[in-house]
Amino acid sequence: MATRIVVCGAAGRMGQAIVRAAGAADGAVRLVGGVVRGGTAPAGYERTTGWEDAGELIRQADVLLDVSSPDATRALLERHADALRGRALIVGTTGLDGDTETALDALAAHAAVLVAANFSVGVNLLLALVEQAAAVLDAERFDVEIVEAHHRAKVDAPSGTALALARMVATARDTRLEAVRRDGRSGATGARPAGEIGIHALRGGDVAGEHRVSFLGPGERIEIAHAAGDRRIFAEGALRAAAWLSGRAAGRYTMRQVLGLESGRT
Ligand SMILES: NC(=O)c1ccc[n+]([C@@H]2O[C@H](COP(=O)([O-])OP(=O)(O)OC[C@H]3O[C@@H](n4cnc5c(N)ncnc54)[C@H](OP(=O)(O)O)[C@@H]3O)[C@@H](O)[C@H]2O)c1
Repeated sequence: MATRIVVCGAAGRMGQAIVRAAGAADGAVRLVGGVVRGGTAPAGYERTTGWEDAGELIRQADVLLDVSSPDATRALLERHADALRGRALIVGTTGLDGDTETALDALAAHAAVLVAANFSVGVNLLLALVEQAAAVLDAERFDVEIVEAHHRAKVDAPSGTALALARMVATARDTRLEAVRRDGRSGATGARPAGEIGIHALRGGDVAGEHRVSFLGPGERIEIAHAAGDRRIFAEGALRAAAWLSGRAAGRYTMRQVLGLESGRT
């Protein structure tokens, strides 16, 4: 049976990319509804509703797929936690605050929850490769710098994916990202401390998303990079995650589990 999906942020770039990907998914998924702000109903959804009244529509879904904004995601969890119980929630929205993360943890006691800053197969493989590299290339000798680029309309920086990559390196090095993170550099910075993780964000044009992680060491440099050429890869990954998550027990899950890069519930 097709997985029934409701999309929050249905009128946005990702919401519309999901319509196109669903059309190519051979009936595996059904977009039963879209939650939108404003009056215009986006094409591709059987029904649309505003955020305030979304509860009834959410109850018709196997999976709620959120690709909106941090404010909208927080409001969704505040207003519609009851409707979400017993279902699956996928959050692709980036830039979530601590309160929203806490609300997602609370919901995970009653629903299957997956939060992924990036739905693409390639980026999740990039995360796994970076984890492997960070475990081998020690912090005293190899400096890590992460550079990301996105389109001019992106509202958060650095990207959720850049933060996930940085966190992966920090964890592999047995430290917390907050203790070693450095966002950009300017002025009399002094020498670079060992162990620091530099993060740099470029914004412009219509870049769908690029990430490069450099391990800069004495006499050698290792670089692992991914470039998204089309938003389609995120939409296809999101639908793959929806089909995988539908009907699962309550708990937190990861995109790496969906893609078979690791197993078990978190
Ligand atoms: N996980 C991934 O693989 C992945 C990939 C790409 C993007 N993303 C993330 O997904 C999110 C959406 O990206 P996008 O490029 O689709 O953005 P977008 O084009 O701006 O779409 C966001 C949609 O959410 C709606 N919205 C925003 N704030 C709202 C609010 N406070 N209340 C109600 N509705 C609200 C917008 O409504 P209006 O149309 O009225 O403005 C818009 O339709 C971003 O956080 C982005 O970083 C994730």
